[in-house]
Amino acid sequence: MFNFDFYNPTRILFGQQRIADIDKHIPAQAKVLVLYGGGSVKVTGTLKEVLTALGSRHVVEFSGIEPNPTFETLMRAVEIVKNQQIDFLLAVGGGSVIDGTKFVAAASCYQGDVLDILKNRGTVIQAALPIGTVLTLSATGSEMNNGGVITQQSNHTKSAFFSTHTFPQFSVLDPTKTYTLPTRQIANGVVDAFVHITEQYLTYPVNGYVQDRFAEGLLQTLIELGEKALHHPEDYDTRANLMWVATLALNGLIGAGVPQDWATHMIGHELTALHGIDHARTLAIVLPAMLKIRQESKRAKLLQYASRVWQINEGDEQQRIDLAIAKTESFFKGLGVDTRLSAYDLNASHIDAIIEQLIAHKMIKLGEHRDVTPDVCRQVLQLCL
Ligand code: NZQ
Ligand code: ZN
Repeated sequence: MFNFDFYNPTRILFGQQRIADIDKHIPAQAKVLVLYGGGSVKVTGTLKEVLTALGSRHVVEFSGIEPNPTFETLMRAVEIVKNQQIDFLLAVGGGSVIDGTKFVAAASCYQGDVLDILKNRGTVIQAALPIGTVLTLSATGSEMNNGGVITQQSNHTKSAFFSTHTFPQFSVLDPTKTYTLPTRQIANGVVDAFVHITEQYLTYPVNGYVQDRFAEGLLQTLIELGEKALHHPEDYDTRANLMWVATLALNGLIGAGVPQDWATHMIGHELTALHGIDHARTLAIVLPAMLKIRQESKRAKLLQYASRVWQINEGDEQQRIDLAIAKTESFFKGLGVDTRLSAYDLNASHIDAIIEQLIAHKMIKLGEHRDVTPDVCRQVLQLCL
């Protein structure tokens, strides 16, 4: 196992009726900016519950953070923070609202050109406003990690940033708040969490026994509950388990001390930035092809995955790997998530532009061995057609 630091200061307030408890975790004198998306939180009543919990605090609202939150929109929130001396940010929504809030928290305290935060992947962040979150969509893990992904509309660039200053102080995880999600978003969440786990698990063995067993348990839970979650929106235990799996999939626990890949995510980000495909849907397209093309360097872990996650123990090594990848793809399809570029009207003529963007964004040595070059990405994308 590699050496590692594990640090995660986010308090999780899990379960039904927990929104009221935010009152205990936000200073009574705070000037709070409540940030949300396109309005689902108004329709579902979650915003009202949040405002009630905030009581007599000075509250300002900022709405309109879009899926794949944009730099341009978020800078309007930074203006409000500065003009109104806001000192606490409360995100109410899914990964996009939480990521956007993290960016606002850091940008509001940043002295230089805020684009530096994105150019330097967050390393320049020295301070950020305190953040709390109320999660309404289980998927990204943003509620318990220090990362965010921001889109610059001007140049179709999706940039990730990370900082120890942008962990939420607390996150409310009330599974009943996900009952109103459209099935498309539930399916997206299952796929996103699944691929977060494979990015940290399907690499090469370093004898991280606990990390492997955690990852396998999380993957098996998603396989067990994924389809059920689509068909039984108000099954509390299903939604509760999905919510906790998605959080644990990307809160640093399973990735500590083991190699990490993330090439599927980096290609996925370009597909979203260029073609507007939902984040999770890009992953469902790229992952099966990525595993096929890189199966030699991932052989030992793919065989472990086949056996422990899918109980594939018959046949020769190649047959077991092929079947594990096929089962992964069928799992995504079973959730109603397409696994081919053609489903989004994309064909071979679109690949050059995706590769050009990867190069422009310096995504030229990806993966756990840093051997996923633009040529390898091209082979992967050709298999995704
Ligand atoms: O905007 P509103 O009206 O709220 O509607 C949202 C949005 O349209 C809706 N929604 C959310 N909760 C709902 C609901 N509708 C009904 N009932 C509810 N309870 O769902 C739509 C999608 O929301 P969004 O936040 O965009 O989805 P998700 O949580 O999948 O976030 C995706 C973003 O997270 C980034 C992605 O790149 C993408 O920008 N990621 C962030 C990561 C991180 N911070 O660690 C890691 C991920 O790999 C990912 O890259
Ligand atoms: Zn993701």
